[in-house]
Amino acid sequence: MNLLVTGAAGFIGSHFVRLVRRVRPDWTVHVLDALTYSGNGTTMADFLADGGVMFHHGRIEDHTKVTEIVQGNQIHQIVNFAAESHNDRSLVSGSSFLVSNAMGVENLLNVVRENQLQRFVQVSTDEVYGTIAEGQFTEETPIAPNTPYSASKAAGDLQCRAHFKAYKTPVVLTRGGNTFGPFQYPEKLIPFFATRLIQGKHVPLYGDGSQIREWIHAEDHAAGVLHVLENGLVGEAYNIGDVNERTNLEILEVLLEETGRGQELVINIEDPRKGAHDARYSMATDKLQALGWKPEKEFIPSLRSTIQWYRENRDWWEPIVQDPQYQAFVKQYYGKYLGDLL
Ligand code: DAU
Repeated sequence: MNLLVTGAAGFIGSHFVRLVRRVRPDWTVHVLDALTYSGNGTTMADFLADGGVMFHHGRIEDHTKVTEIVQGNQIHQIVNFAAESHNDRSLVSGSSFLVSNAMGVENLLNVVRENQLQRFVQVSTDEVYGTIAEGQFTEETPIAPNTPYSASKAAGDLQCRAHFKAYKTPVVLTRGGNTFGPFQYPEKLIPFFATRLIQGKHVPLYGDGSQIREWIHAEDHAAGVLHVLENGLVGEAYNIGDVNERTNLEILEVLLEETGRGQELVINIEDPRKGAHDARYSMATDKLQALGWKPEKEFIPSLRSTIQWYRENRDWWEPIVQDPQYQAFVKQYYGKYLGDLL
C-alpha cells in the first residue's frame, strides 16, 4: 500500500507515521508537509532516516503538487493531519485557518475523487461539537463550534460530508480529544507550561482553571486513526478519546510537581478566549471501540513521562522557544497579562 500522510512534521501526524512504520513496515509512506511554524523537520528525523518514508514539501491547498505526488507514486490512500490547530492564534486571526482547514481539505477531496483513491481519512477534532455541560458528545451530536479554529475544522468536516453525499468519495472522519505527548509544539497547555516551568518562567492560567478537557496520549490517538483507516466505514465519523476528563488545575498540579516548581510561578489571568472558551469536552467513543480499538495508555504516568521528555529534550524545543516569531506571538498574546514576567 502506498499511503500519503499530510502534516507529518506536526505533532499527531508524526506519531502516526512512526506507528505505521512499526506496525505496517511493508507500506510505503509519503509525507507532504508545508513546514509552517509548528511543523519541524527535526520531529521527522528518525523516520525520514529509515528509508521507508519519502518527504515532499508543499501545501495541501496546492492542487498541482498534491496531484503530482498522488500520480507519481501510485498513492492509494490519504490521511490528512495538516491543519492550523491553535485556538488562541485563531482568535488573533482566523484567515490562515480557513485556508488550511477548509480549502486544503476541499483540495484533497478533489484529488481523491479525480484519481479514484481508495480512501481519505480526515483527522478532525471534538471541538467541532462545541462545549457540553453534562453527558458526552456522540458522533450524532450536531456541530456547534465556538472559535475560528473549530469553525474552520467544522467547515472541513462538512466538505467531507458533502463530497461523500455528492460523489460517494470514500471519506472517513475522526474527531480526537485533547492530545498530549512528546513533540507537541510549545503553544498548547501542556508543552507551553512544561517548557516555561522548566525554564523557571511564569505560566498564564486562563480564568480559574476549572475548564475540563478529555485527554488522550498521541500514540493512542494515532492508533485510533490507523484503526479508522483500516476498519472505519466510509461516510462515517468516529470519536477518538479516552476517559481522562481533567480540569486545567489538575493538569497544572502534575506539571508543577514534575518540574519541581511552585504556585508562585502561576498567574491567573483574565480569560483571553472570553466567550469562545469551551468549558468542557467529553466524548463517547463506543462507536470506534465497537470496531476493536481502545486506548492503552494510563493518563497520569504518561503525563509524567511526557513532562520528563520535555526535561530531557531541550535540544528539540529550545530552538523553537528562542525563535523570534515564537517570541513575537507570546509577547503579542500574553504581554498585556504577564508584562515583565514574559
Ligand atoms: O479537543 C481537541 C483540541 O484540543 C484540538 O482540536 C486543538 O487543536 C488543541 O489545541 C486542543 O484545544 P484546546 O484549546 O483545548 O487546547 P489548549 O492546550 O490550547 O488549551 C487547553 C486548556 O488550557 C484550555 O481550557 C485553555 C487552557 N490554557 C491554555 C493555554 C495555552 C491556559 O489556561 N493557559 C494557556 O496558556
